[in-house]
Amino acid sequence: MRAIDVELPGTHYRILVEEGLLGRLGAITASVAPHERALLAIDAGIAGSHGRTARDALAAAGYDVAVQEIVAEEQRKTLATVSAIYERMLASRLERRSPVVAVGGGVVGDVAGFAAATYLRGVPLVQVPTTLLAMVDASIGGKTGVNFPLPADGDGATLGKNLIGAFWQPAAVVADPRALLTLEARDLRCGLAECVKHALLAEAGGAIAGGLLAWIEANADAIGSLDLAVLTDLIERGARVKVGFVVEDEREAGRRALLNLGHTFAHAIEPIEELDLRHGEAVAIGLCAAAWCAVREGHLGEAAARRTTALLERLGLPTRLPRPIDANRLVRAMRYDKKVAGGRIRLVLPTASGGASVFADVAPGAIIAAWRAVGAAPSRGAGDEPAATP
Ligand SMILES: NC(=O)c1ccc[n+]([C@@H]2O[C@H](COP(=O)([O-])OP(=O)(O)OC[C@H]3O[C@@H](n4cnc5c(N)ncnc54)[C@H](O)[C@@H]3O)[C@@H](O)[C@H]2O)c1
Repeated sequence: MRAIDVELPGTHYRILVEEGLLGRLGAITASVAPHERALLAIDAGIAGSHGRTARDALAAAGYDVAVQEIVAEEQRKTLATVSAIYERMLASRLERRSPVVAVGGGVVGDVAGFAAATYLRGVPLVQVPTTLLAMVDASIGGKTGVNFPLPADGDGATLGKNLIGAFWQPAAVVADPRALLTLEARDLRCGLAECVKHALLAEAGGAIAGGLLAWIEANADAIGSLDLAVLTDLIERGARVKVGFVVEDEREAGRRALLNLGHTFAHAIEPIEELDLRHGEAVAIGLCAAAWCAVREGHLGEAAARRTTALLERLGLPTRLPRPIDANRLVRAMRYDKKVAGGRIRLVLPTASGGASVFADVAPGAIIAAWRAVGAAPSRGAGDEPAATP
């Protein structure tokens, strides 16, 4: 079994990666959070399949299992869903030592994780990610939370992403690559976008996991054909990159912010219904926008931006907006992002030396040009400039 140790001040946990781990979930949970009762927070879409395996495994280890199904949609990643989880926990008499076992993608992990962080001021959490994105990213590092309505601005994008939340480290992360076999191809691709992001960041430091970009390029076909050995490697390599950042900077005071590469752009387009983009797809377009923004600002060569775009395309991900949204509207949406400091847009951009850096005051013209480069419509507002053609 692959085990990655996450050592943090005051806590330690392991990320376990192996085929078939879902069937051993009870024993693993009992080893980190023994109690007579547990809450299984399960993605409603997999309740009858992986959920049944997880429930049986927990019951076999002696847990009295309360089950809360969660519909994995961004629109449901809200305080109302957290309330429903609290009600189930109270009705099932869950106590301070009763674990919450969150089985599902990032939506379930974030929302059930927030419930675990806050119920009785915090109960043990076992993250059991069942999407690639959750395995290499969302389940690791302790960020939990929900979306919350923004003040109305007439643009139709009303839910602010992850605005309410808490840091709450899991007691264990259990990743069973076989779970990925039932994932829709589109959802697998979304996870690949985060893997490419990790690979871009890892280019800087051989110390963390340099070479992942070339590894994904070399294994793109095997990944697409769901080769379990290759997927297991990919999960481990991707998770190690995330762990490297989390261990260095648990509370995102510095380096961990680099994990937001592409995300300030992605968060502006993800809530726009007419684009119909999933998180990972928005991240893929966001990575391209960040790359072209970096080219425009002189931090990155064009060849590197083209390499990123080509790999994302090869993995079947979008690299341009499916419809031309007004570039100024997108810049406005970016200002609601949590990474805004003092009204200026702070951006994580890739750099020529490999990896990425935070830039505190990117020229508005470069941001508009980046949006135009990924297909945004020209806007008539101040600071607009002609599109750079990638
Ligand atoms: N906490 C963090 O650090 C962090 C990091 C990155 C992303 N996130 C969050 O993660 C969320 C996205 O997560 P996601 O991409 O996993 O999406 P998701 O949770 O919405 O899952 C995607 C889809 O896959 C289905 N699904 C899950 N596992 C499956 C399986 N094994 N087989 C078949 N279907 C399955 C779900 O029902 C859903 O329809 C976003 O809300 C994002 O904000 C959090």
